[in-house]
Amino acid sequence: MNDIIIKTEEEIEIMRQAGARAAEVLRIVCDAVVPGITTKELDDLALGVMDSIGVKSAFLNYMGYPAQTCISINDTIIHGIPDGRKVKDGDVVSVDVGVWYNGFVGDNAKTVAVNVTDPKVLALLENTEKALMAGIKAAKPGNHVGDVSRAVEKVAIDNNLSVVREFVGHGCGRSMHEEPQVPNYRTRTKGALLREGMVFCIEPMFNLGTRRIRMMPDGWTVVTSDGKFSAHFEHMIAITKNGAEILTPR
Ligand code: MF3
Ligand code: CO
Repeated sequence: MNDIIIKTEEEIEIMRQAGARAAEVLRIVCDAVVPGITTKELDDLALGVMDSIGVKSAFLNYMGYPAQTCISINDTIIHGIPDGRKVKDGDVVSVDVGVWYNGFVGDNAKTVAVNVTDPKVLALLENTEKALMAGIKAAKPGNHVGDVSRAVEKVAIDNNLSVVREFVGHGCGRSMHEEPQVPNYRTRTKGALLREGMVFCIEPMFNLGTRRIRMMPDGWTVVTSDGKFSAHFEHMIAITKNGAEILTPR
């Protein structure tokens, strides 16, 4: 069994630095999402920023992943590989950034709207982010992983959105993926007890239509099976005695 790795205060301080840098890259890339830019150009921008702040992508070469970031447009849920596709008006663009800093990972993501007018799409983004924040609020010592999952899922249910189940949040540290898994839906068990020193990512992926997914032939790109839009928001948090500290503040 893989157990949950509790971090020392010194390790959390490094992860705070890793998280701040991941957040910085994410902010700069998201600010550059405008009509006409290609996802490859956004990925190149991310690389330039990572170089200039002394971090490396945690995604590049991870199980053979071929880019610095994941950039997922519209019905692409996650793991979109940057390429020559141009961003256009009405798109929603999910940017996922993970970095290595002093042996630790910082990981975060958000979805931005590009001159979107459809209120349903705007509500999708708003509520996916709201679900992330609800999950963070439930992440405190004495609660369980299941309390986080339930808080996240409730926002989807209340707003008639579907929850992707094949991908979940995850512990984070000297590896990008550690125990525990953090589902965005209720499970039969309450999950691990949350304790001070745990660090994990909460990352709801909500869809406007079906929760069903399809994997593209590249083996990475995950899309909704009905072609409707999806949103993804992620923060890396640490459990402290007072509750969750967001290590990737925007
Ligand atoms: N934020 C994603 C995760 O936590 C990013 C992984 S992308 C990959 O799993 F390309 F590295 F797989
Ligand atoms: Co993640």
